[in-house]
Amino acid sequence: MAEPVPVVTIDGPSGSGKGTVAAEVARRLGWRILDSGALYRLVGLAARRAGVDFADAEALARLAAGLPVRFDDGRIFLDGEEVTLAIRTETAGNDASRVAALPEVRQALLRWQRDYARPPGLVADGRDMGTVVFPRAPVKIFLDASARERARRRYKQLKEQGIDVNLSDLVAEIEERDRRDRNRSVAPLRPAEDALVIDSTDLSVEEVVEQVLQAVRRKLPAAGAGER
Ligand code: C5P
Repeated sequence: MAEPVPVVTIDGPSGSGKGTVAAEVARRLGWRILDSGALYRLVGLAARRAGVDFADAEALARLAAGLPVRFDDGRIFLDGEEVTLAIRTETAGNDASRVAALPEVRQALLRWQRDYARPPGLVADGRDMGTVVFPRAPVKIFLDASARERARRRYKQLKEQGIDVNLSDLVAEIEERDRRDRNRSVAPLRPAEDALVIDSTDLSVEEVVEQVLQAVRRKLPAAGAGER
């Protein structure tokens, strides 16, 4: 039997820095990356554009199963149209969190996500990577940060893009999204029992990346050896 593909899962709430950390860890290891949140965002965006009712779980699952998506060197295309930025808006994030609460949609995206695990390895970023999608991953990280710090990071990001927002509105939105992600009945946001929990509130990206790579070197000495 072929050796299982090594997987590092990085789960956590929005704004914890997962995406940035996952991309840097994948780069250093020379592994593939799965941004699972982008898949939920794509389903939300496609549903809104097609006028699908957000209460119609079956229609949303059908949409998720046949999504005409292309990933091309960091850019994302939906039905031929570039949506790299369109899926990053607050509306798309909230739509993603709504469709993500439906078991039918999660099921439709499961095989697609598992398909990403190809040699030499995968860094998977999301909410349920370590608990549901890759429960046997040898390295599981749960990245957290206070809601205020996560809102502050998002605020800075939006300001840099010239988007005017109110910080306390952002804190409220982040807390609302967290509540929905943590309390849903299917695949709720929580650390896997064997996850290493890292609180990034007072840490730099580089410090978090180093802690993740240390965990990789401990559990997967061969993978750590190939670092760039
Ligand atoms: O990570 P990101 O903010 O892009 O994810 C958007 C939304 O998609 C999250 O708020 C969450 O509801 C959902 N999601 C999920 N499971 C994942 C990844 C994202 O439920 N593995």
